[in-house]
Amino acid sequence: HTPTATSASSSAFSDATAPRQPFVIGVSGGTASGKTTVCDMIIQQLHDHRVVLVNQDSFYRGLNSEELKRVHEYNFDHPDAFDTEQLLDCVQKLKSGQSVQVPIYDFKLHRRSSDSFRQVNASDVIILEGILVFHDQRVRNLMNMKIFVDADADVRLARRIRRDTVERSRDVNSVLEQYAKFVKPAFDDFVLPSKKYADVIIPRGGDNHVAIDLIVQHIRTKLGQHDLCKIYPNVNVIQSTFQI
Ligand code: CTP
Repeated sequence: HTPTATSASSSAFSDATAPRQPFVIGVSGGTASGKTTVCDMIIQQLHDHRVVLVNQDSFYRGLNSEELKRVHEYNFDHPDAFDTEQLLDCVQKLKSGQSVQVPIYDFKLHRRSSDSFRQVNASDVIILEGILVFHDQRVRNLMNMKIFVDADADVRLARRIRRDTVERSRDVNSVLEQYAKFVKPAFDDFVLPSKKYADVIIPRGGDNHVAIDLIVQHIRTKLGQHDLCKIYPNVNVIQSTFQI
């Protein structure tokens, strides 16, 4: 865009004096696509910045006793399975520099811990990861960058079977049943259609070091621009003109 000289300098001036707004990155993709690995690699490479990870999984609604009795009929891949209002509130607070308490979700018991939370503090970069983080427009609008992690469905299913049997106390049959009944249809109905909102699509998930290097370079540029603006408020016009 091409802002007028006055609006450019006044907005950039407030940028220079206001506290830095965290850079929010959304990382989406199907189940077991490698989202966690991609996030870990970004966090590792940005070791000299304050980076926090918020998982959409933490905002799963806890199941009541009736739902627990029929857990095999519960669709954990539908957008309604998450408390999106709470997720939104949490990311808004983090974006405005406040610290928040994120729930702790138990995949074996299908509920949140009743007495403990994870304290997440203000930071330079907030990474929001989950299968449906691009589904809600209000959540999407908080993101400065959207990454979709791609992996073939057979690779994802193989990983999911291994993970759910080892880490989430499931048996292979129940994993396959849940996959056919809920995971795959919800991927087609909700996850895949949200891919169009991505700025960057990473093929081969966490194995793609080149893509992750490029993403980290871009984040560094964005964070660095702000520093430059703080030190030299007069770079405002240049910064506004070259903003993507
Ligand atoms: N899920 C479940 N039981 C619950 C809650 C969620 O089986 N009580 C499943 C849902 O079916 C959903 C999946 O958890 O498909 C979401 O987690 P996933 O994205 O697979 O986990 P990540 O570790 O974030 O993924 P990745 O491997 O991409 O890092």
